[in-house]
Amino acid sequence: MIRIAILASGGGSNMQAIVDACKTGILKDLAEVILTVSNNASAFVLERAKNENINSVCIERKNFKDEEFFNKKILTELKSAETDIVCLAGYMRIVGQGIVDEYKDRILNIHPALLPKFGGKGMYGHFVHEAVVKAGETKSGVTVHFANEKYDSGKIIMQKEIEVSKIDTPEDVAKKVLKVEYRIYPQAIKKIIEENLRG
Ligand code: GRF
Repeated sequence: MIRIAILASGGGSNMQAIVDACKTGILKDLAEVILTVSNNASAFVLERAKNENINSVCIERKNFKDEEFFNKKILTELKSAETDIVCLAGYMRIVGQGIVDEYKDRILNIHPALLPKFGGKGMYGHFVHEAVVKAGETKSGVTVHFANEKYDSGKIIMQKEIEVSKIDTPEDVAKKVLKVEYRIYPQAIKKIIEENLRG
């Protein structure tokens, strides 16, 4: 079984989708979520981990003297859980270089737009969907890509489009996109396991 660790800062609905896929969906008998790391003590994702009996750890930046020590602590937790794949699921920070080096081509992120459009620093959550609507786009979508030490710039693994109509609000777009995220993230994980992790 491939061991997945999730890094998340918020609600964790993508984490839930990955857990569900491991339990009863396309990742069944292939992967399991063995750890959830959050940098935010009040993130609902920690509650979800508890409900699912998944080990979780909260590592807050404010408790470390600098970025390096903070990221080292995360790396230590990932390694001691014998993590094979790291999935960022609404993780609001850049992952440290040490983590990127250790898990090269095994750290995935999901972004709620069609990268390279509407990505980069500051492009997260509702800001993405507001920008899409403001630009009059007729399409948006979901991108799963490898994460590296820069925002939203690693190699794309999978993309899926959704239609944006003239009357869609940013909230409408967000809803459509999220629904697709839950389907695409487990599919992209499966692809990486099959291509990179199983001989
Ligand atoms: C998702 O839209 C994801 O694309 C983005 O952050 C959001 C996380 O939502 N990176 P959740 O915490 O998984 O519910």
